Amino acid sequence: MHSNIINDLFKGKDYPNIPIWFLRQAGRHIPEYYSIRSRAKNFIDFCLNTELIVESTKLPLKYYNIDAAIVFSDILMIPWAMNRNVKFTKYIGPSMDPMIPNETKIIKNINIFQSLKPLENAIKILRKDLSPSVCLIGFSGAPWTLACYMIEGKSSKDFVNTRIALWNHNKWFQELIQTLIIYIADKLEMQANAGANVLMIFDSWSHMIPNNFYKQLAIDPIKEIISLLRSRKINIPIIGFPFKSGSSLIKYSYESNVDCIALDWTVDLNWAVKNINSSIVMQGNLDPASLIPNNSNLLLSEVKSILEITKKRKFIFNVGHGLTPECKIENVKHVINIVKEFKS
Ligand code: CP3
Repeated sequence: MHSNIINDLFKGKDYPNIPIWFLRQAGRHIPEYYSIRSRAKNFIDFCLNTELIVESTKLPLKYYNIDAAIVFSDILMIPWAMNRNVKFTKYIGPSMDPMIPNETKIIKNINIFQSLKPLENAIKILRKDLSPSVCLIGFSGAPWTLACYMIEGKSSKDFVNTRIALWNHNKWFQELIQTLIIYIADKLEMQANAGANVLMIFDSWSHMIPNNFYKQLAIDPIKEIISLLRSRKINIPIIGFPFKSGSSLIKYSYESNVDCIALDWTVDLNWAVKNINSSIVMQGNLDPASLIPNNSNLLLSEVKSILEITKKRKFIFNVGHGLTPECKIENVKHVINIVKEFKS
């Protein structure tokens, strides 16, 4: 197989220009997304339909000259496989049966490989269909973020029930985290063996972790997942995304064993270049909101500034969080052109 520039960057090989892709690139800012989605009864069925996964994963590549495709799925497919009755309701977002700390039994015998077979099949098809120059990215949520949704039963502004569980039922909480570590490693292993070239772990709510628990809940579980994967002979690069973790990003970059750290849009890149472990790759961190208005001059200067600051580092250009439905295709194309033309 020919290589793609993202894997070349990880291997330390030469590559012609800065790699670029976008978080949530396969979603609602592209008109055809809605017609693909409407062919499934609901969002879970969408995520369990091999043909629709393949189509939506390829969709952004029709519009953009990007270096990666991220497989269409959702981090909440692990809670779904754990029988938490996960639903996605229009205008409301995801919901599921909340786990009652110390009461709800933590199921330990889920076969993720079997439950997520359609995803595995989709990745196998995608790796054959996509050009070898496109890096295929598989992903999972991080244990803390999945525990947040599973205890709260929905999204929340502060995940206070999860934090109470952490203080009040710590043993049960740790058991949940340990169980999730296994399922997450299984899901990532499955995606790698099916043909994914890079894996990404989203910790979207890591900024809710009480500071004294940050190492125990945001760093150590990622390290454990990576060591499980390495022991199972999965040696592809792993991107960690500890969202809005501020100064804890330094510790995460040295201790979690990720090969790349994804930075959110609040991170000062000059600070990151000085403080983040220089032996790993950085990814980020354009504000996705900058892709909404029609002000291409401001966008041009922002993208150039990101490229200038990071030019001495191994760097993958991306947004600092997912593209939203309002993002304009023309703006995304404009950013790609600037990045592809940039010579460091
Ligand atoms: O990047 C991609 O295009 C690939 C697919 C992808 C989805 N979800 C599809 C999706 C990825 C990588 C995710 C990850 C995900 N899902 C995260 C981590 C990243 C982040 O945003 O922090 C989280 C927290 C979730 C949970 C989730 N899924 C929420 C909160 C929502 C509803 C609100 C929202 O922002 O969309 C979803 C639904 C979801 N997942 C959609 C898509 C395209 C929208 C569903 C729709 O079509 O209405």
